[in-house]
Amino acid sequence: MNIPWTVECLDKTDSTQAVLKRQAMNGAAEGVVVQAWEQEGGKGRHGRIWTSPPGNLYMSFLLRPQCNAAGIGQLSVLISVAAYDAVSAFADNLSLKWPNDLLIQNKKCAGILLETEIDEQNIAWLAVGIGVNVNSAPEDGVCVQGTEVDTLRDKILDSVSLHYDAWKEDKYKGIEQKWLDAAHPKDTKMEIKLGKRLEQGYFHGLDENGNMLLRDDDNNLRTISAGDVYLV
Ligand code: BTN
Repeated sequence: MNIPWTVECLDKTDSTQAVLKRQAMNGAAEGVVVQAWEQEGGKGRHGRIWTSPPGNLYMSFLLRPQCNAAGIGQLSVLISVAAYDAVSAFADNLSLKWPNDLLIQNKKCAGILLETEIDEQNIAWLAVGIGVNVNSAPEDGVCVQGTEVDTLRDKILDSVSLHYDAWKEDKYKGIEQKWLDAAHPKDTKMEIKLGKRLEQGYFHGLDENGNMLLRDDDNNLRTISAGDVYLV
């Protein structure tokens, strides 16, 4: 069943994510989408700023997946794959980087922020924020090509609906395989920032909860659930 998207478009806001989270806490239904043409306080992962000048895609949408907290990792993989499928029509050489960055030739064109409220081990709501560089990008980023903001928004939402249905029908393995096909290959050398520590290793795959498996030089595997990855 398609998610019944209802899109609220704002010219300017602090952060679509902050607006959506307030609505989520007030009981908003699955499918509510908040979009803005410009954000004055855009939020990135790990408390970073998401610079949000006018003209890019800034949207947040609400899911109520009715699963336990462990499902968040699978949902993160699902959202990345859905965004990848939609954006790939407007980007050559698109790839994914764990946990959920979209890159064009190793430069970021889109970022995804997942925030959730857990109620007695279950996900009460999941707020998904997506920013895509359409008309401008920061110095270290890049834009997608040949689309309008609203067209891209609708394509991403359609794709999320499609993949969410598949996930509910227990087709996660297929989604995970799509993620693996779109991401850095097995054994890619990487550095990962874990708090203040920078560690090196080789990408080995994902576990069943979307965590990254990192192999070290002695072939020991480590499960990584959060952190910033730098491809070496
Ligand atoms: C990242 O750090 O890669 C995630 C960036 C997420 C940015 C989007 S833009 C729409 C939504 N509103 C925000 O304030 N952040 C997310």
